Formats: sequence, C-alpha cells, structure tokens
Amino acid sequence: MEKQIKKSLGIGILTSGGDSPGMNAAIRAVIRSGLRDGHRMFAIYNGYRGLVAGQIEQVDRSFVSQTINRGGTILRSARLPEFVKESVQLNAIEQLKRFGIDALVVIGGDGTYRGAKDLSQRGINCIGLPGTIDNDIASTDYTIGFDTTLNTIVQAVDKLRDTTFSHQRCSIIEVMGNRSGDLAVHAGLACGAELVISSEHLLPMDEVIARLKFQKDSSKNHAMMIVSEKLFDLNELATLIAAKTGFEVRTEVLGRIQRGGSPSAFDRILATRMGDYAIHCLNLGKSSRCIGVRGNTLIDLDIDEALALPRQPADHIVGVIDRVK
Ligand code: F6P
Repeated sequence: MEKQIKKSLGIGILTSGGDSPGMNAAIRAVIRSGLRDGHRMFAIYNGYRGLVAGQIEQVDRSFVSQTINRGGTILRSARLPEFVKESVQLNAIEQLKRFGIDALVVIGGDGTYRGAKDLSQRGINCIGLPGTIDNDIASTDYTIGFDTTLNTIVQAVDKLRDTTFSHQRCSIIEVMGNRSGDLAVHAGLACGAELVISSEHLLPMDEVIARLKFQKDSSKNHAMMIVSEKLFDLNELATLIAAKTGFEVRTEVLGRIQRGGSPSAFDRILATRMGDYAIHCLNLGKSSRCIGVRGNTLIDLDIDEALALPRQPADHIVGVIDRVK
C-alpha cells in the first residue's frame, strides 16, 4: 500500500505541441481529481509559450464541463523551440512562482517531455502525460489521441477503397506520424491495405513495384498503399508506379483532418485514467514522472529514464500484415 502525502499543492496544466483528440479528457481528469484532493488548479494557455507569458488562471471544476467529448485542446497549444534557452526557462519558473504553482502537468509529445525534463532539472516538479497522435513515446504502449486518429484514417481509407475499386486504380494514401510508422502500419492492418511503407518498415522499390504489379495482374485489379509522411514525393512516386505497373494512380494526403474530431471511447478512458493517475503520483509526493500504460496497467517512470527508452517499432503488426496479404 503506497503512502498518501496530504499536502495541498498549486498544480498547473498545459498542452503543448501538436494537439490530439483526448487532450481535453486528460485536462478534465487532472483538474477534477486535483480539486477533489484539495489542490489549487491552474489552467496555462498556449503551452510553454503561454507559461512564459503568464497566460495562467486558477480554475474550478466547471472549467472542464462538457469537454470530455471535444477534440482539440481547450487550453490551446503551441510549439516553442526557444524553450531550450536558459533565459526562457527561468522566465517560466518566475511565472510559476508568481502564481504559487508547485507542480506542472504537461500533456504532449516528446518535445513537451523535453521541456518538462529541463524544468525538472531546475527543480520544478513536472508530470508528463503522453498526448500525441503519433504514438511515438517509448514509455507508453499507447498515447492519447492515437486511437481516434487511427479510426479517422480507417474511415477515410475505407471510403477511398470504394472508389479505387470502382476505377481499378492504385491509391497512395499519406498519413501522419512524424517519424513513427505506427499510424501507417496499424491502419494498413485495419484496412487490409495491399502495401504499407513507414520509416521503420521500408521496402525496396523493386519489391513495391513487384507487389503492385501482382495486384494489377490479379482479379483484384486495384491496390491501396498507405505510406507514412516525410518519406516520399508523392507525385514522383505515383508517376513511377504508373509507369512500371500500368496502374492509374491517385494520391491522397489526409493531413490535419487526422488530428481533429471527438475522441474515441478508448482515448477518453485512457486520458481520464492517466489524468487521475498524475494526481495520484503528486499525492504520493512523486516528482518528475512520465505516465504511461503497459498492457492495461498505468505506470510512471522518471522523465530522464522515459526519454532515454528506445522506441519499439510495431513489428508485430507488420508481421501480421505480411502473413495475411
Ligand atoms: O506530432 C503530431 C503531428 O501531427 C505529426 O504527425 C506531424 O508531422 C506534425 O504534428 C505536424 O505539425 P504541424 O501541424 O505543426 O505542422
């Protein structure tokens, strides 16, 4: 049985980096659980940028009413590359002191975690929650937003397959993920894509052509190819495939539509559990932790340890795609 430390804290919360569906559910859980345990809760707007600028207000439980189902982030988000500078971090700490904030809960991706690590090294207690569609945080099996985005992609690819089938084409669909291929490969499995290429699962071009030619010459005569962003010039790829396979090729970049929309039940539940767990960690007097989920169990790791973990590419998913293709 872990010992609860009863101490009322000022706790700030911010979202930073690319927004993700479920961030609001996490904010809601942190604020509601924090208030329930007697803490003072502060909304910090516009990520680290707003923190440095003092865009902060104390909030009550009604601040997060009717937000669990909303996409985006009610706290807004921003990227602040200058946060690596000592002077900027010291400004942030000044603002935290001004508002009587003892601990900071940050929701975002690895850039957000790095900001939290810098503040932690300067004595600010930061708790990180993984909020990104990319699922590229090694210290958790799933990030908040990944499941919703995956479902958005699956819906789009299913629709595109209808018209790709009708016109007997090859569709190349580019999905987000930054340098992580998780969205591409999970969507590839869920949609039965004929080909998936991510930065972690590259294929030689002659194999890509051979597989597509096989589709073209089969009775199926159409193909869905999902590729991660930042890998190809899609126009060049489409021209090459058309020339080498005889397919008529169309390209689709799903873009930021993937980041929007009401969070799935999975993301709402994950976000709410993680937000509540962040307060649990603070109640125990823990500091500088990153929250994650392994299997169905919530975990917390030291920020340095979390950031140093190597990311595991989704080889188990690719293995299944290959077996059932
Ligand atoms: O990290 C989330 C993400 O959506 C990535 O998948 C993508 O590469 C990036 O953010 C795009 O960021 P922005 O909307 O700032 O261009």
